[in-house]
Amino acid sequence: MTLRLKSFVVLSLLSTVSAVQPSTPEPIAAPLRELKWGQINFLHTTDTHGWLAGHLQEPSYSADWGDYVSFATRMREVANAHGQDLLVIDTGDRVEGNGLYDSSEPKGLYTSEILRQQHIDVLSSGNHELYKKNTSDAEFLKTVPNFQGHYLASNIDIFHPTTGELVPLAPRFKKFTTKNQGIRIAAFGFLFDFTMNYNNTVVQPVEHTVKERWFQEAILDKSVDLFLVVGHVPVHSPEYDAVFRAIRAFHPNTPIQFFGGHYHIRDCAKYDSNAYGLASGRFMETIGFMSIDGLSTGGNNPKSELASPIFNRRYIDNNLFSFHYHTGLDENTFPTEHGRNVSRYIRKSRAALQLDEIYGCIPQTLWMSRVPYTSADSIYAWLHQQVLPDSLKDKSRSGKPALAIVNTGAIRFDLFQGEFTRDSAYIVSPFTSGFRYLKDVPYDKATLVLEVLNRQSKIVTASKGVPGPLPWSLAPPEQAAYPYRGEDSHNLRSGSPMLNEPPNQNPMTYVSDPQLDLVPGYITTDDLGTDGDDTVHSQIAFYEVPNCIDALILDDHSASNPETVDLIYVDFIEPYITLAARFAGLNISVPLESDVYMPSTSLTDIIVQWVKDNWSCAE
Ligand SMILES: *[C@@H]1O[C@H](CO)[C@@H](O)[C@H](O)[C@H]1NC(C)=O
Ligand SMILES: *[C@@H]1O[C@H](CO)[C@@H](O)[C@H](O)[C@H]1NC(C)=O
Ligand SMILES: *[C@@H]1O[C@H](CO)[C@@H](O)[C@H](O)[C@H]1NC(C)=O
Ligand SMILES: *[C@@H]1O[C@H](CO)[C@@H](O)[C@H](O)[C@H]1NC(C)=O
Ligand SMILES: *[C@@H]1O[C@H](CO)[C@@H](O)[C@H](O)[C@H]1NC(C)=O
Repeated sequence: MTLRLKSFVVLSLLSTVSAVQPSTPEPIAAPLRELKWGQINFLHTTDTHGWLAGHLQEPSYSADWGDYVSFATRMREVANAHGQDLLVIDTGDRVEGNGLYDSSEPKGLYTSEILRQQHIDVLSSGNHELYKKNTSDAEFLKTVPNFQGHYLASNIDIFHPTTGELVPLAPRFKKFTTKNQGIRIAAFGFLFDFTMNYNNTVVQPVEHTVKERWFQEAILDKSVDLFLVVGHVPVHSPEYDAVFRAIRAFHPNTPIQFFGGHYHIRDCAKYDSNAYGLASGRFMETIGFMSIDGLSTGGNNPKSELASPIFNRRYIDNNLFSFHYHTGLDENTFPTEHGRNVSRYIRKSRAALQLDEIYGCIPQTLWMSRVPYTSADSIYAWLHQQVLPDSLKDKSRSGKPALAIVNTGAIRFDLFQGEFTRDSAYIVSPFTSGFRYLKDVPYDKATLVLEVLNRQSKIVTASKGVPGPLPWSLAPPEQAAYPYRGEDSHNLRSGSPMLNEPPNQNPMTYVSDPQLDLVPGYITTDDLGTDGDDTVHSQIAFYEVPNCIDALILDDHSASNPETVDLIYVDFIEPYITLAARFAGLNISVPLESDVYMPSTSLTDIIVQWVKDNWSCAE
């Protein structure tokens, strides 16, 4: 199959190209698609989850936040030189998921300082900022002031940490005019209809917010040239549909630019010919680029009143090779003093946190979704067969057989062959949840609980009338995106349980061209087509995983088919276990009469201990 590229350039590998984080691999030369600039241009990050040092083991995503600071500065210089505008956007989930955030005390000590070094024009909160009281308090007391005038919270309130008064987390919206083009913008900052936040914050459903008086008044303004809706919201979602419809009710044609996230995917939604939404991946893998041309500016009509504005999007791989190419600069002319300083600060922070401390050596790469979850090099098979059975042992329950249930979303990243460091531990599973268990559950009922959990659509139905809706997926967020992807979904969600039989074995079509050495990576299909990625990649397979995996824990004396087991689960999923147990016909009380299993031990602790015991680095 041939590649249809409007324009691409193959750059030669420069041996001098290197990011500032010392152990980072050099980016690999690859064919690139160019950016199409417009009157207004955007750079977008989302779901960075603390990965501000970039990916130390993956050349395609090896630029750090300091390199991104340089990139934004250089892009702004290009825009200024052409009388165009550039705005920088971030849509939340900046916390949790990387040692740089999670391993400091307090958490976020360094990342909060690093993040603020980027000039961000509009940003919003994600759900991860709101799970714990002290995380949202830190957001309110530190991050919001750090980005004063730029942080927006259209549907989040917080009980003030000292006065106890319910106040907006940040201003609801803002209006501003761009510097060079004089584009008059009304901007909002949303979070999807999230319900698992700690009770010191209140998230109002988006569908209610858009009916509120302040919102209705804000959008009445006839002098707006562009509505800018940023948020931690999937771009294909009922929430953004509601915002779109609310604005369109008054403005049949005014351009609307949405930025979203949460599903950790690259995606672009077309709502109508004047309204688009961009989602820019996860974990500092992607810098989203969006441009709009043909806007009215400060009351001046667009070039042609009949023409719709033109929207263009690019998903830029986060590496210096791409950054140099798109700015027309090289390793000498690209970095700014400020960017270099930020990279240095990141290096010092990583050293202070001892993130390179080695716990063991990974003998072969273990994947989350590039292989079937039953395959020998699946991270889930490794947990199921080795880590959980070896490790889940509570002193007070010695000799009792157990069935453990772990949601696949508790794992966040692949484990690459090579060193397993303190950083790897936070990356693979950043969550602090411990384990709980129900005593002496009939074994057949325990396996039925697992089966019910893996029929998630039924669980959501069954939850009607039970306190607390449970809309989120137990699988990794990347997978949650698939129900929205129409024909391209390869029926990833069949709705049927996948306990023992492997899931749909449908790796997506492989694109290859013998002329080019393509690096495996993202090949994105979105509402605008298949030419969104800046780097032309070869395809990576994506296999579905079930919501939950299990592990049967027997000691040498137990029968292989025990009558009763301790049903162990990650405490984060207790609301689901409650529903599933009821559905499975277990005689349970609500709240569950469960106990802590292995006190003060998290899944991450178990993984780390197992690695230390079993994967020592050969001298
Ligand atoms: C929140 O509290 C936990 C437990 O004391 C602590 O480890 C963490 O660093 C705190 N987080 C923040 C953002 O202060
Ligand atoms: C929030 O939950 C805590 C228990 O975690 C409870 O003590 C407190 O009263 C709750 N606050 C509100 C406002 O509901
Ligand atoms: C370098 O970074 C540090 C820490 O963020 C900051 O205090 C200092 O002002 C920065 N200096 C320059 C020249 O940017
Ligand atoms: C369910 O459990 C309760 C309390 O443990 C008990 O009184 C009741 O008889 C049980 N019901 C059934 C059907 O086993
Ligand atoms: C891992 O190490 C532990 C402790 O030495 C041992 O009991 C267990 O059998 C090992 N697991 C594997 C799969 O080798």
